Amino acid sequence: MLANSGFGTRSEVRALIAGGAVSVNGITAKKADLQVSAEDEVICNGNPVSSDEHLYFLLDKPDEVLTAMEDPRLACVGEFIPDNLRGRKLSPVGRLDYHTTGLLVITNDGTLSHRLQSPKYKIKKIYLVNYDGPEWTEAEIKEVADGVTLTDMDTPVKLSPSAVSPIADGKAYITLTEGKTHEVRRIFAKFNKEVTALRRISLGNITIKEDTADCGVLRELTKDEVLGLKALTGL
Ligand code: URA
Repeated sequence: MLANSGFGTRSEVRALIAGGAVSVNGITAKKADLQVSAEDEVICNGNPVSSDEHLYFLLDKPDEVLTAMEDPRLACVGEFIPDNLRGRKLSPVGRLDYHTTGLLVITNDGTLSHRLQSPKYKIKKIYLVNYDGPEWTEAEIKEVADGVTLTDMDTPVKLSPSAVSPIADGKAYITLTEGKTHEVRRIFAKFNKEVTALRRISLGNITIKEDTADCGVLRELTKDEVLGLKALTGL
């Protein structure tokens, strides 16, 4: 349980137990093969140990941060994960560009992660976009709503329908149900609009602030938020 919860390798946690660092229901554990259940209160060096193998976090990703757990050169989202959870095989659900801010779920629940990214479940992702260029016309909005074809790369790609809602000059929401590479930037570019700031504000049942005041804040998803994501993906 300790090794699975990121408190160290099997031999490291054996040493912790031998050193008296671990208690179970208030009694110092003596043996590493002591059997514990989800109801037992396990404490290691003063930190509660959760038997729940799945962790679910929400990071409000700042600008200039790579969506990766590690990188030799650039700041990356893995740096926002507390050290004692490094061994928990957490990884981001999908990817936000280096310059995109906002809602990023980080979990070690591979099934949920896979389903949230699969176009099959049509999970809605809402982005707030600032752009330079002509305003959206009704005809352009309709083209995107019908599923636009991008021809900016070697092979043309037909996108699923997306909803553009202009808010003000140079500002719009766009709702996607899939996650093709640089999809928002490419849709805007197709209509001669250059994205100058991109922020994901919603994923399925979860919505965050439109302003960037909480960029860099990591929090655990609430039970209801997790249940909501699972319900949307048939889990
Ligand atoms: N679309 C983009 O262009 N970039 C992102 O980061 C997410 C969606």
